[in-house]
Amino acid sequence: MSATASITTPIYYVNDRPHIGHVFTTTLCDTWARAMRMRGRDTFFLTGTDEHGVKVEKSATANGVSPQAWADRNAAEFEAVLRLFQQTNDDFIRTTQPRHERQVQALVERLKAAGVLYKGAFEGWYDEGEENYLTETRAKECEYKSPVSGRPLVRAKEENWYFRLSAFAPKLEAMFAANPDFVRPAARRNEVLGRLREGLQDVPMTRTNFSWGIPMPGDPGHVIYVWIDALFNYVTALGLGDGSVKERVKYWPADYHVIGKEILWFHAVIWPAMLMALELPLPKCVYAHSFWISEGQKMSKSLGNFIDLAALEGYMGKYGLDALRWFMLTRGPLESTDADFRALAFHETYVADLVNTVGNCSSRVTAMIGKTFDGAMPADARGGDAWPAMCDSVVKQWEGHMDRFELGPAAAAAIGLLREVDGFINRTEPFKLAKDPAKRDEVASILAQCAETVRIASLLLEPFLPQRMADLQVALGAPMAGEPWARKVVWGGLKAGTKMAKVALYPRIETPGTPA
Ligand code: MSP
Repeated sequence: MSATASITTPIYYVNDRPHIGHVFTTTLCDTWARAMRMRGRDTFFLTGTDEHGVKVEKSATANGVSPQAWADRNAAEFEAVLRLFQQTNDDFIRTTQPRHERQVQALVERLKAAGVLYKGAFEGWYDEGEENYLTETRAKECEYKSPVSGRPLVRAKEENWYFRLSAFAPKLEAMFAANPDFVRPAARRNEVLGRLREGLQDVPMTRTNFSWGIPMPGDPGHVIYVWIDALFNYVTALGLGDGSVKERVKYWPADYHVIGKEILWFHAVIWPAMLMALELPLPKCVYAHSFWISEGQKMSKSLGNFIDLAALEGYMGKYGLDALRWFMLTRGPLESTDADFRALAFHETYVADLVNTVGNCSSRVTAMIGKTFDGAMPADARGGDAWPAMCDSVVKQWEGHMDRFELGPAAAAAIGLLREVDGFINRTEPFKLAKDPAKRDEVASILAQCAETVRIASLLLEPFLPQRMADLQVALGAPMAGEPWARKVVWGGLKAGTKMAKVALYPRIETPGTPA
């Protein structure tokens, strides 16, 4: 386990309004970053906005403002959304910041010096919406329509600077062979390998048909292609372009670049080749999740099923932030299939997992201790029986899952502990035994074992459910707050006699659906 942990989201286009897609990816990274911080790793979680390119220039003009004013307005909204959803990012990089622009130019100079750039004419199939050329094979596959928007591709020709991606094919192949987990999940890696076999085309580095971008050093008529500019954010935030932020150098390479599947090629092929040319280490893993659809269909503004900011705020207002996070993190498109955001599924997940399991189990245990032992942790003369070993094994599983960015399995392991506690209470029926004074010691052991397991589960659930798990720990007397992780997760943190309060974490909600 290395001492640092670093994770990135894509930087989001400022001409889009924040929606479930952005909040989802950011929440995945936030959950991992919280888990790593809890474990004492020196953590860096980066997000930000992608602000250059023809789309931003056009939207700004259409709105009668300068591109910078447009970018400022929308970047502020993205930042406000991070605060609204209590994301714990350590920095927010904007590609129009001088720190980024300066370093991008320096990095492009280095690419030039490395001999991997050249000026040439190019003609190909261009996706205007995505600002992206498609290979002939790919364009044909997509019937000469944008794979994203469905709009026809246009035949475009320009004289540009190019990055010699084709020269990196052997190195990329060797890298993929040596690092089977470089791209995850496996289905996404196979897609990349399939496309690599079709051969690599050089990629344009600059554009000349608009001006909203970073000028190409030494060739002012050209601006650096928005995708190249954007990819560099991962290292400019750390000052790697000019050594300007020494204390952040340790956060490179990133452990995880978390992205949506539609931008995999840029991250899994173009970006590594650029890093190879710059002789910089590659990120350890590019994790490409799938997409949210909504109520069974692709999200669309016209269908009215778009999970936009207002919809997300509606869910958060009604069910709370933990519920929104839990639904996204356990029912979301973390793997290679898309996931459906359905109001009913959201409601059922909330009731089954948060109300009936996490909430019910914690309130049962704290209420019984309240009633039977006057709210003080009872003594367990049986030393925990089988529970310490079980908790220890679940903690280890959870740690392994977190290290491997397996958030779904980590969440399942954590909530599984509470299901065990519930089953144990149902089997041993301490509420019945409590009526017999001769069984007091037995009841004490049962409830102490339950409470201690709830404490450990609350730690494992905290990155997923930061709000109520913090409350739960306070209710349990905040044992071991400030202690290192390795001590916190060891059995026995709740000492006999510790006062605890009865908790009610997740209110029962009767009717599904978002508020109007
Ligand atoms: N600016 C580029 C990324 C540059 S990174 C160097 C970009 N921006 S974006 O605003 O379009 O954001 C794309 C990201 O938003 C996706 O990769 C994904 O993380 C998220 N999502 C957008 N729509 C989504 C869904 N419907 N479902 C899940 N996530 C998706 O591309």
